Amino acid sequence: MGVIVPIRTLGSEDTVGMDLNRGDSNEQLLYEQVAARFVSLIEKGTLQVGERLPSVRRMAAQEKVSISTVVHAYRALEDDGWLEARPQSGYYVRRKPAALKGVPLPPEPEVSRPRCEAELVSVAELSMRVAHATRDPNMIQLGMAVCDPNIHPTRQLNRMLLEVARNCSSAGNTYDFSPGSPVLRAAIAGRLVQAGCSLGPDDLVLTLGCLEGLNLCLRAVCEPGDTVVLESPTYFSALQAIEMLGLRALEVPTHPRDGIVLEALEEVLEREPVKACLLMPCFSNPLGSRMPDENKRRLVEMLRERQVPLIEDDIWADTSFEEPRPRAAKAFDEDGWVMLCSSFSKTLGPGYRVGWVAPGRWRRKVEYLKLVTSIANPTLPSLAVAEFLRRGGYDHHLRRVRRLFAEGVECGLRAVGCYFPDGTRVTRPRGGHMLWVELPPGVDSVELFEAALHANISIAPGQIFSSRPSSHRFVRLNCAYHPPDVIETALQTLGRLVEERV
Ligand SMILES: Cc1ncc(COP(=O)(O)O)c(C=O)c1O
Repeated sequence: MGVIVPIRTLGSEDTVGMDLNRGDSNEQLLYEQVAARFVSLIEKGTLQVGERLPSVRRMAAQEKVSISTVVHAYRALEDDGWLEARPQSGYYVRRKPAALKGVPLPPEPEVSRPRCEAELVSVAELSMRVAHATRDPNMIQLGMAVCDPNIHPTRQLNRMLLEVARNCSSAGNTYDFSPGSPVLRAAIAGRLVQAGCSLGPDDLVLTLGCLEGLNLCLRAVCEPGDTVVLESPTYFSALQAIEMLGLRALEVPTHPRDGIVLEALEEVLEREPVKACLLMPCFSNPLGSRMPDENKRRLVEMLRERQVPLIEDDIWADTSFEEPRPRAAKAFDEDGWVMLCSSFSKTLGPGYRVGWVAPGRWRRKVEYLKLVTSIANPTLPSLAVAEFLRRGGYDHHLRRVRRLFAEGVECGLRAVGCYFPDGTRVTRPRGGHMLWVELPPGVDSVELFEAALHANISIAPGQIFSSRPSSHRFVRLNCAYHPPDVIETALQTLGRLVEERV
């Protein structure tokens, strides 16, 4: 049970307390005053990190202010990083991470230099080993691309699942044939306005997460043996899909901040029979790179001229640390050459498996491939997510996601700066929750992966993010599965393991 804080009797400026009871007070001023009072209590140590605040109802009754004033105040404090809302539990005081100030950060990695040749992929074995390690609950999880499940609004989603199940009786247990729930597709089309896209529900096909969408798009536009262009490094499940479909991967130099290098891509398109590009313009995994809008426009134009489809993986875009989210490359697509794939896995959680594709000119083919692959998405989760979007609150939830991811990344950067030896390089992502770390010469990332497992830490070795074993001096680190203090301690251990191998 947390302390009860009589706001009006704590702190030094009694006028604030008096204002709280003024019936005619401006609502906005009132919640700001409540919030400001909490900040001063936290700063003085009266409220301790980890302490639970009184419930909204209790606080409102105690202070004779409205419930909405307290809700506003708690939310503002949550947005500012002072409080943390824990599902089914309440609001807790959280530790604000110390500023990066004073910690010298290692430089960023340079533009990647892959061989720029089409080749068959073989990442299956190592990536399965990494996947098994990342599922071990006893490990400190720096390896997978999954955040702390408590960040997701699971309680609200589950409540909506129960409600829709109760209300739609047997209709919830029939096939929701491809392209899937019209209500959900309309809600997703509405959200894609923020990505700069003018799409309607009929432009979308629902999929089982983003990965199914990527697979369907590859199958829609490629035959075995065809060449697909990718960033270097790239998302390993895209490489696995390419491997399983018998396609060839051609990795192109990629800038750690700005994404694929367009001049290099153009040169490849001139010389190779490229069948598709599969790229992540808005926060790639693992680099976290974000293409400037002008590059996206040029990319779309370059591919349209050569009639090469762009499969755009947009899954991380909503986690942008800055609002609004960046525009999708699809926003610059006038002729349907961009196939946009995404899901709610990184924001609402991966368990509901709600994903979608806007396949452009391959709309009917993707709908058909979805039908013959898995017929439909599960009906009730689609309806529950549609209801969640309809009631609002997604944007508020996103603010929390963005803040927590940004804090995690900042903490990770600081720890790499403090504990990793000279010769280390690290990215500066502005979205997502991954760091791509280049280790000093002589350190092999698979060997480090094994050593880290002995220390109960799972990391993702760089090799799985390339079609060739070229990223052997890189690791990807997840900064959002554990709280900042756990991440910092784990990175201290990892830094020592790196140091021992230099
Ligand atoms: C870039 C990228 N695309 C797709 C996925 C898979 O998404 P989903 O779980 O929605 O299938 C991930 C998951 O980590 C990812 O990082």
